[in-house]
Amino acid sequence: MAEKMDALLDYSGSKDEKVVDANRKMRVGIIGCGWIADAHVDSYKRMPDVEIVAGSDLIPGKAAEFFKRHGVEGVKTDYASHKEMLDDESLQLDAVSVCTYNRQHAAPTIYALQKGVHVLLEKPFTVTLDEAIEVMKAEKESGKVLSIGFQPRLDPNMQMIKKIVESGELGKIYYIQTGGGRRRGIPTPFKEVTFIRDETAGLGALADIGCYSLDMVLNAIGYPKPLTVTGYKSDFFGKNPTTYPNNPEYAAKFGVDDFAAAFIRLEGGIILDFRIAWAMNIDTPGDTIILGTQGGLRIPSTDCWNGTVGGAMTIYKTIGGINYETQVPIINDGGPSLFDRKIRSFLDACKNGTQAPVPTSQIIYNQAILDGIAKSAKLGREIEIEIPEV
Ligand SMILES: NC(=O)c1ccc[n+]([C@@H]2O[C@H](COP(=O)([O-])OP(=O)(O)OC[C@H]3O[C@@H](n4cnc5c(N)ncnc54)[C@H](O)[C@@H]3O)[C@@H](O)[C@H]2O)c1
Repeated sequence: MAEKMDALLDYSGSKDEKVVDANRKMRVGIIGCGWIADAHVDSYKRMPDVEIVAGSDLIPGKAAEFFKRHGVEGVKTDYASHKEMLDDESLQLDAVSVCTYNRQHAAPTIYALQKGVHVLLEKPFTVTLDEAIEVMKAEKESGKVLSIGFQPRLDPNMQMIKKIVESGELGKIYYIQTGGGRRRGIPTPFKEVTFIRDETAGLGALADIGCYSLDMVLNAIGYPKPLTVTGYKSDFFGKNPTTYPNNPEYAAKFGVDDFAAAFIRLEGGIILDFRIAWAMNIDTPGDTIILGTQGGLRIPSTDCWNGTVGGAMTIYKTIGGINYETQVPIINDGGPSLFDRKIRSFLDACKNGTQAPVPTSQIIYNQAILDGIAKSAKLGREIEIEIPEV
């Protein structure tokens, strides 16, 4: 048992340094120059085979100020929208990062794909399932790479969860509890309220951090198809002015959810019990647990739930009537940041013509669950999840 576990938990990682062909430069543009675009540009600057050539934002002057702040020179920014930038053939764009708020994920992504440009789209995929399907149609017609920005996938600790499940040590998986969240943590960075307005975000905690917690477990078990969902959403904290002692006016702007819960049936007879919060009157609604017929796995939750493993995981097994518990220590491989891994894996797929590191063929199931929770919550009953063929 001990030797078998040691072999399973051995993390040799990817120690091979990839050789990047710096002579084959990728001409990259940024659509949406807000908060998360900072991380994209910081990473692109570290890539020897990238030239950042353009940026656009709906707010006049924002893109120019953004690149000035980042010390990136020679970037064209005089565009009123993503369309104007993508129509500028002089740019000869190879790829764009779509860093717009959720309600503006689909339109720029579809337009970029139609223009023959590879896309790295920030998470969540979209707001609605219908939008995601339209994006996938454009992806299929374009033959270009479209990857969704789930950088926690590239965390060796997340990969260990998948390795444990795939080893068979847990047996057949039949029940998963996932999610978590923050006691108080409604995101309003730098006084921006795009995360909390319906017109820009469309969904709140459910999509913002819920998509990560779903990906953690669905990726581990091979993304089975979701079949039915009973969902719930609430906004008790978001709509309460006392939640924002310094900015009580945010309460009137709050148009999304701050808490969501759901009971989801997946293909293969697997039950997914999910809850997520930007705010709640408890420290955590529980760890992630994966129950199998031969073993169980506990994945500690984090305070902020930004898609990371909160501490050493535990595998539970009973052999010959004796209960065993094996600790799975946190892995720190000393490698690049998760964001650098996300950008690098996207660029490699574009250059080598390989599959997107986080493909839409998987994330469409994640999106179908988010969409199903929102629809079921509105109807107040269980619904069947129907995903159109692309
Ligand atoms: N991967 C991560 O770790 C991570 C972290 C934070 C946010 N995000 C995601 O990134 C996205 C953006 O979040 P943010 O906090 O940067 O938002 P933000 O509001 O700070 O920035 C979005 C910017 O996009 C611009 N914009 C919107 N539509 C546009 C269009 N059609 N063309 C050009 N510009 C457009 C807006 O004017 C705004 O400046 C969200 O979907 C969010 O979920 C991901």
